[in-house]
Amino acid sequence: MGDAIGADAFAGAVGEEAEHVLAVQIVGIDRHVPGIGIHGRSGAPQQEALDPALVGDEIDPEVGTEGPQLSGRFQPAFCRDQEVALRRRRQLVGMPIAVGRRALLRRCCHQCNAPTHGAAERLEERRSVSERRASATMKVHESLNALTTPALIVDGDVLEHNLTAMAMALPGARCRPHIKAHKTTELARRQRAIGHVGFTCATTREMVGLAAAGLGDDLLLANEVVDAEILTTLANLDARVTIAVDSEHTIEAAARAGLKECLIDVNVGLPRCGCLPDDAGHLADLARARGLEVRGVMGYEGHVVGLTDRVEREHQTAECMAQLARAHLGVGGDVISAGGTGTFDCNHFATEIQAGSYALMDTTYRALDIPFRPALSILATIVSVNARNGYAVADCGLKSLGMDHGNPSIDGATVWFCSDEHTTFSTDDGSTDNGAPLPEVGTRVQVWPAHVDPTVAYHERMHVVEGGAIVDTWAVDLRGW
Ligand SMILES: Cc1ncc(COP(=O)(O)O)c(C=O)c1O
Repeated sequence: MGDAIGADAFAGAVGEEAEHVLAVQIVGIDRHVPGIGIHGRSGAPQQEALDPALVGDEIDPEVGTEGPQLSGRFQPAFCRDQEVALRRRRQLVGMPIAVGRRALLRRCCHQCNAPTHGAAERLEERRSVSERRASATMKVHESLNALTTPALIVDGDVLEHNLTAMAMALPGARCRPHIKAHKTTELARRQRAIGHVGFTCATTREMVGLAAAGLGDDLLLANEVVDAEILTTLANLDARVTIAVDSEHTIEAAARAGLKECLIDVNVGLPRCGCLPDDAGHLADLARARGLEVRGVMGYEGHVVGLTDRVEREHQTAECMAQLARAHLGVGGDVISAGGTGTFDCNHFATEIQAGSYALMDTTYRALDIPFRPALSILATIVSVNARNGYAVADCGLKSLGMDHGNPSIDGATVWFCSDEHTTFSTDDGSTDNGAPLPEVGTRVQVWPAHVDPTVAYHERMHVVEGGAIVDTWAVDLRGW
């Protein structure tokens, strides 16, 4: 955990203050980040490249790299009068006088190795500090500045890249995009326009919404439902509806509601829904006897999709699909529905892949060797800066970010923790005194979520950005149940 936080974050924190900061971080992580989840998707935040479309200013190489001030870290080139002035100022405001080496270095003119500074050098030093601060600030295009934050933003070009990459790899019926990852009719329309006509849903709301939008050619509710009212609603949709069943109970409920088609949901290793592979044939017989058409099987290898090691991912996917194949022998039908974004190109058994995250992506999936890139981020505003302890606070937190896969990421920064409405972070440049190149209060930052599905579900709309400007705003209209 210490490594993930980065010792540099504390480089200038002194004595008790440093312990405080560390304690806050550990409490934050223990409460909010359960670690590696059942998906096997690592919670480690990823550093993304700055998106030039959204960031109007570049990070100063001197701030973001081991530049002159860092070489100075090992050769104390700071000037005596600077150190004395800093110690005096700290004494005046009641800060510990022992000053971290890094903080002192940051107060110096890095071009100057002279033992003293004159007024001109001091002026120059102040200017370079403010320039560094401005450079580290992540500016956004004017049209984005008008948004109330936190706001969900989608890079339209990256989204198009992701949709195209999937359509090329798995054209037409080979991919049945999972709607749960974005819950947005407008985005579903784009998926359909590129050739993906069937959709996977997790909730009734998603099914009803897609049917109402005319996107109901072939909807699969890949989830078990026993509520009679909901099932009747589904049966009356103006859409082709197939439902997952994994027990006598769910088959009976579906038949009574008047649903016509089902898939036998098979457990292939993820401890969630699905019958035992050896029970699938019997359940298929039962479903047929109750008047349902059994289209085939479904078996989601959700505990495998996040494995970063491709060989292991392929190996475990094959093991899961061997179980699904056994079940399919007893069930029959021409649909074998399985897979997700992480296994879209290593599941060679399924006839259709239920990938969802690939469209918008997240930093956890980014760790995999797949051709999709993060398109989704949260635009947030810096609401507080603590230069003394080297951190800034953005106005997005647990209530606007899915956190089950770990902390979000901020380019060029280390996220310490998230609380309800806040994300606390330090810049990777690390700094603890007033010269810190932390973003200023009021500036915007781009925050990359670690898990796309729950993040989207927190927001009412997403803004599509192209060339740095908002070109569209889509309602996240398929939220709820
Ligand atoms: C049943 C089912 N199928 C497929 C997926 C694939 O989703 P993703 O592409 O986000 O991995 C999920 C995600 O949770 C799921 O629950």
